[in-house]
Amino acid sequence: MALNIVLFGPPGAGKGTQSERLIQKYGLIHLSTGDIFRANMKEETELGILAKSFISKGHLVPDEVTINMLKEEVLKHPESKGFIFDGFPRTTVQAVALDEFLATMNSSIKVMLALEVEENELRERLMKRALVSGRSDDADEKIIQNRINVYKNETAPVKTFYEKQSKFISIDGIGTIDEISNRIYGAIEKN
Ligand code: AP5
Ligand code: MG
Repeated sequence: MALNIVLFGPPGAGKGTQSERLIQKYGLIHLSTGDIFRANMKEETELGILAKSFISKGHLVPDEVTINMLKEEVLKHPESKGFIFDGFPRTTVQAVALDEFLATMNSSIKVMLALEVEENELRERLMKRALVSGRSDDADEKIIQNRINVYKNETAPVKTFYEKQSKFISIDGIGTIDEISNRIYGAIEKN
């Protein structure tokens, strides 16, 4: 059975940082919808131009566009031992679509690991990263706040979706990167 993990959490929670560790340890494919959008923005593809109009304001890219893109990426890796979905699903519509899509491949999500970090710490991390990231959505405090608000209103409810399937695990996202990795490994190995 594939080890498919949803690595969940608010902006700046450490999803990307922890994904790097997980792909190495478990030999998984990392699919970050944010990273894929940014690569398209850099190449100025049609998708990138569309995505930029939402991302630079801190809004979500529409579900249909995001879901189709994600499916294409999954299909590029038929031999994968499993995927880390980082930043996806971000709405309940996306979560339902992911379940249905994986089912067509006789696959499913094993677990949702939700990194929990309080808002002040998120703001601090993102403002620090803004100095070096060049990300348009880090550039401005107001946009950072928009992303946090969108998370609270539209994305946090996705936890309930996985809770109902008994797949939800909360991970304390405060501490050193190593400490948090060890919490994640522990949670994966218990399941
Ligand atoms: P996305 O790229 O997913 O960004 P995000 O969710 O805002 O999160 P970040 O990537 O900023 O943070 P992260 O949790 O990966 O943390 P990181 O490891 O970098 O999405 C960007 C945008 O794309 C969205 O706003 C939306 O517009 C669009 N989008 C993406 N997916 C979408 C979807 N499914 N549907 C619709 N739209 C979508 O760490 C953050 C910082 O903290 C780093 O500087 C890091 O070094 C530092 N850090 C990490 N761990 C620690 C630690 N333990 N202690 C201290 N600092 C730490
Ligand atoms: Mg990230």
